[in-house]
Amino acid sequence: MTLLGIDNLNIRFGATQAVRGLSLEIAAGESLGLVGESGSGKSVTALAILRLLDAAAAVEGSIEFDGRDLLALGPEAMRQLRGREMAMIFQEPMTALNPVMPVGEQIAEAVRVHRRGLKRSEVRDKVLEAMHAVALPDAAERYGDYPHQFSGGQRQRILIAMAVANRPRLLIADEPTTALDVTVQAQILELLADLRQRFGLAMLFISHDLAVVSQVVDRVAVMRHGLLLEQAPRAAIFREPLHPYTRSLLGAVPTMRTDLDRPLAMVGSENAIAQISSDEATVPLREAAPGHWVRTSL
Ligand SMILES: Nc1ncnc2c1ncn2[C@@H]1O[C@H](COP(=O)(O)OP(=O)(O)O)[C@@H](O)[C@H]1O
Ligand SMILES: [Mg+2]
Repeated sequence: MTLLGIDNLNIRFGATQAVRGLSLEIAAGESLGLVGESGSGKSVTALAILRLLDAAAAVEGSIEFDGRDLLALGPEAMRQLRGREMAMIFQEPMTALNPVMPVGEQIAEAVRVHRRGLKRSEVRDKVLEAMHAVALPDAAERYGDYPHQFSGGQRQRILIAMAVANRPRLLIADEPTTALDVTVQAQILELLADLRQRFGLAMLFISHDLAVVSQVVDRVAVMRHGLLLEQAPRAAIFREPLHPYTRSLLGAVPTMRTDLDRPLAMVGSENAIAQISSDEATVPLREAAPGHWVRTSL
């Protein structure tokens, strides 16, 4: 069953075409990785889904969540959905947290917004449950601590606790580990994989780093300059990348090279890639193998 369906999405900021004719689907419980270099339109896509883009953005196309047309929903209906049925975590945990409010209170606020009828003690139970779910140690003792009293990895866990406290069906994670060191990054990825399993959470996992994405997703979509270039099950992206740009992203993942059963095509200079991309919008996506879509005429 399709949980999120994006169809022919276009996002413009004046003359900048940030997203061009993007179509994507995420099934219930499925995890899709959205990969591409900086500026490819990943974050604006996430913000469009949550209807958090500023008024300067012109959005066309359709975004359906569980059969509801998000672009047609009013602000109040959208507020009901956000944080309850779909939630988001961002790259920088410190800026997303309120520095002068105890973390337990911040998670409690996320719970209360959507469950006004709950008693104080019930809210507290839900907060502690969420803190346990993200493996924050000594939840009860640390309820009243402030963000600066936690490490970067723990702060990201607190944000994830806020995001999953209401058991959303879709979690959008935009570069959730980019600000963290490698060891902590691995722990957070493990946590996200674990939450997915336990809560049957669908996920849109955004990163510029294909290696990071590959650890938590079922399928990968590769974007560049607002255009979807390739989409395939995770294994196929690594075994048989068809688009030159996907191959160049894989070139930045040295450990994966040994897994490829055929040599990587030589990727030329940045100029050569830019050349390919300028004509790309006119090339339709074609299904090269079941579930493996690529925008190339080769
Ligand atoms: N508020 C905005 N106003 C104008 N242009 C924007 C705005 N937000 C994003 N853009 C432009 O949209 C494009 C895609 O940005 P973004 O989605 O943030 O890329 P990514 O997340 O893939 O790095 C970029 O060219 C960026 O400059
Ligand atoms: Mg971004």
